Amino acid sequence: MAYEMILVEIQGRVGVITLNRPKALNALCDQLMGELGEALRGFDADPAIGAIVVTGSEKAFAAGADIKEMKDRTYPAVYFDDFIGKRWEDVLRIQKPVIAAVAGFALGGGCELAMMCDMILAADNAKFGQPEINLGIIPGAGGSQRLTRAIGKSKAMEMILTARMMDATEAERANLVARVVPLADLLPEALKIGEKIASLSGPSVAMAKEAVNAAFETTLHEGVRLERRLFHSLFATADQKEGMAAFAEKRKPDFRHG
Ligand code: CAA
Repeated sequence: MAYEMILVEIQGRVGVITLNRPKALNALCDQLMGELGEALRGFDADPAIGAIVVTGSEKAFAAGADIKEMKDRTYPAVYFDDFIGKRWEDVLRIQKPVIAAVAGFALGGGCELAMMCDMILAADNAKFGQPEINLGIIPGAGGSQRLTRAIGKSKAMEMILTARMMDATEAERANLVARVVPLADLLPEALKIGEKIASLSGPSVAMAKEAVNAAFETTLHEGVRLERRLFHSLFATADQKEGMAAFAEKRKPDFRHG
């Protein structure tokens, strides 16, 4: 498929999707979200790919949902279209790890998209915020839930109720991001993380992702039960036998992703 609003490339074993609507600071319009979903599904289905990086420009990861596109939408239209839900949650259905490499603005839906990814790597110029309140709305793609789970109630309340932006240092301190790196190192570092993940056993990577994500959806008891069952199931893979044999034989494992 030819994309107009994203760039798609493969670097080693990592699929890279660059949001590319510079004139609108990567505002997440319907077309862009459709293309993003298509590209994510393509990489997820490609056995040559072990991890996916989603990034934007130096100025903006994404400045939110497209305000100009949504400003005249009516209540029945957004309700029956299940606006945001339908097109935006593709990233949640991807089995391979998705790394958000964020530089510049990650606002509103941009912050929400980054939080839907499995981890956020931030450049030192990153700015996170949920400024929807300035527009007479509230976050609509999970921001009130995921931001609160990530950084706690008081900070989330302050950001969502006042539209205050958080810089990269504060975002790291608040556990919103995994790490902050200099802007020039953002993509190389994200690729390094992606390559490391891609070099590991595919089933254990996918199940580790599933288990961590379950921590946001279930009780501790159910989460631990799921973890144990996934842990047990990995003993049915050749990669578990290979990984442990390689350790015992003091050599590098040769994972075949099965
Ligand atoms: N939607 C549509 N267009 C946007 C946009 C958005 N979210 N954000 C920026 N743009 C456009 C601007 O309209 C402008 O276009 P024109 O040149 O055609 O006027 C262009 O991008 C550049 O933007 P600015 O001139 O405003 O750039 P700046 O550097 O002065 O400011 C900014 C940057 C602070 C990010 C500012 O653009 C801004 O506040 N953007 C809106 C942020 C926002 O409110 N996001 C939440 C959207 S609602 C949402 O996301 C709902 C949800 O939960 C899913």
